[in-house]
This record gives sequence, structure tokens and C-alpha cells, in this order.
Amino acid sequence: MTLANLKSTADLDVRGKRVLVRADLNVPVLDGQVSDATRLERLLPGLRGLAERGARVIVISHFGRPRGGRDPSLSLKPVAAKLAQLLGRPVAFAEDCVGEPAERTVASLLPGQVAVLENLRFHGGEEKNDPAFAARLAALGDVFVNDAFSAAHRAHASTEAVARLLPSYAGPLLLEEIKALASVLENPVRPTAAVIGGAKVSTKIPVLKNLVAKVDKLIIGGGMANTFLLAQGVEIGKSLAEPDLAQTAREILHAAKERHCEVLLPHDVVVAPRLAATAPWRIVPTLETPADALILDVGPKSVAHYTAVIEHAKTLLWNGPLGAFECEPFAQGTFALARAVAELTRAGRLLSVAGGGDTVAALNAAGVADAFSYVSSAGGAFLEWLEGRDLPGIVALAAAA
Ligand code: 3PG
Ligand code: MG
Repeated sequence: MTLANLKSTADLDVRGKRVLVRADLNVPVLDGQVSDATRLERLLPGLRGLAERGARVIVISHFGRPRGGRDPSLSLKPVAAKLAQLLGRPVAFAEDCVGEPAERTVASLLPGQVAVLENLRFHGGEEKNDPAFAARLAALGDVFVNDAFSAAHRAHASTEAVARLLPSYAGPLLLEEIKALASVLENPVRPTAAVIGGAKVSTKIPVLKNLVAKVDKLIIGGGMANTFLLAQGVEIGKSLAEPDLAQTAREILHAAKERHCEVLLPHDVVVAPRLAATAPWRIVPTLETPADALILDVGPKSVAHYTAVIEHAKTLLWNGPLGAFECEPFAQGTFALARAVAELTRAGRLLSVAGGGDTVAALNAAGVADAFSYVSSAGGAFLEWLEGRDLPGIVALAAAA
């Protein structure tokens, strides 16, 4: 899957055209207010560009998981309001993404105007990738632009089937995301390193299998490191682990060895009797983890070692925290390594790309997200890309080219 197969909107004459833009407006909302607008902000250049070139911009998106029925708490209306505020221009809202409300709203748009249509997932046809539902969406536009990389791992009507019905283009955010990922995984400047953390190995087995064949150094942290330690016969006390996956962990370590990928596990760890900010914690060599303790973070010696490794790398990929960073005493490992990556990036010595769920929250908490070369706005799609899988939304765009 390469960028070369995708058509950008740069040379497209959109004047007066109805441009159906698949965006990812699936943002966190608390008490009716968007609590993190990052995904919306990333969409602005693309939407503004189309509007300024005279397109009638029709934004479609899912929001949450209403499972094919109307759910007022999952209306995109407050998100559309926030988008209008960020765009600095009015945004019309249609109470349904197909049928009369959508048709009326689209018909009322003048060149340069923007509308958001209601949550696609209020219709069961969206997640079923139903061609008839896709046809109803396609009827609203003259061209289709997918700018939702973070939803491209879903084969849904608005990401997949619709691309077969309209002239289809890749939006600038989608292209930017793919470019960033390609710079780490497809054609990286070596040596390359990856930091993979998070609670469970089970969710990241395919990622780890793919990465050991691609990167030179693989730093494994978080709860998942415990399973790898266990797999090597290390006593990990009461730590979170997945003993069922010990054999899988050994296979991953074996595959890494064959591919000359060095896997790094923590030499020292932060332990405590329980996961609580008030719990008494201490730093111990990993091999001296007490039987009644939980491993909750990597220790300072490990961070120093990882930093030294990353200093020799030219390209770095980061997914997942190294410890239970939401709880202050156990955030230090993640924060310290994130700061080191930020510094190397600022100094122009490292290309750093991060993404996926908790990762962005951890880097924001560390105050360094802005210093990374690229932080993806995608969660699941980022992970599936790391797994080496083709994303249906991108495949559909490439096929449409
Ligand atoms: C996300 O938030 O990762 C995307 O918007 C996809 O959402 P989904 O997991 O509900 O398909
Ligand atoms: Mg998700």
C-alpha cells in the first residue's frame, strides 16, 4: 500500500462541486462539550482548503457506537458547533445523514459553505458496509474525499463502499498520517527503534510480530513487559501478566533474534503493594521483584539504557505507555523517556512518530506531544497499520484511483 496509489485533492477542481468528506469527528465529549478537539483541529486545513476553493463541503462521520439506532446522546450536533467555532465560519447541520434532512441541507449549501450530517452509525447500513446505504450517501455528493485515516481500518459504507461509487480522493490529513507511518515503517532512516507499551500483550501480538521484522531495537514496557519477563522465568510477584501468552512471548523473542532485532526489557522496575498514588513504592532490580509486589513502571536505570539506545537511533516509533502513568508515582518512566525523545527530536537527531489510544494522552501528560515529529490522531487504525495490515478505507481509495 503506497502513497503513489492515492489521488490527492490538490489538483482537483472543486468549484461549485458537492464534496462529500469522510472525516473522523469521533472526539471525546463531556457534558455536551468537546473535551479534546485535536481531531477537529487536524481537519481544519483540509476543510478550509476545500471551502476556499469554492466547494460545497459535506462532512460525514460516525460518533461513538450507537449500533445502528438513533441515540440522542451520540448526536454530532455539539461537535458540529465546535467545528464551526474552530473553522471560524458557519456550519449547517442536518438531523440525518441520508434522506430528506440531508438532501435539504446539501441543496441549501452555496459554494464555500460547510455542512455536517448526523452520525452515520444511526443507520445499520453504515457498519454493514451496505451498498444501498452507500448509494444514498453517494447521491449527496459529486466527489468523495476520505480524510479519516483514523477510521480507515473499518470497512464501512462511508469508508469503503462509497469509494466505489464516486470519484474518490485522499484528504490531506489522511495523506499526512500515511506519510508519517511510512517514514517509520516502509522506508525509514536506520537504525530504527520502537517503544511498545500498554497493559496487555494480547492486544499487541500482531504488532510485535510485525515490528520485530522491521525495527532494529524494540523496547517493551508497560504491563506487557511482565508477560515477557514471566516467559523468561523471571519472578514478577503479583504483577499484571498474561501467563497464557508466555509461549507466544517466547516465539516473538525467537523471531526477533532471527531478524536481528534486539528486544529490551526493564532491568529495574518501580514496585508497590497496590496501584494507588499513596502506595509506598520503591525501585528494585527486576530480578529482585518481591513476591507480594506489583511492577508498575520501569526504573531509572532502564530509562537511562533506553535513552542511550534511542540516542543511536535515527527513527523512532512509540505506542503505549511504559508504566501505569495515570497514577503519578508510576508515570516517571514514560515521562522521562518521552522527554528524552522530545529533546533528540528538537535537536534534529531523531524522527519520532507516536500514536494509538493511550499514547497521545501519555505524551500530553508529559507535556511533550508537540515536540515529537508526528503524533497520529488515530487509535485502532494506527495499531492495525503497525500490524502490517491493509486498511480497507485506504485500499478502497487506491482501487478507485
Ligand atoms: C477511533 O476513535 O479510533 C475511530 O474513530 C474509530 O472508532 P471505532 O473504534 O468506534 O470504529
Ligand atoms: Mg476506537
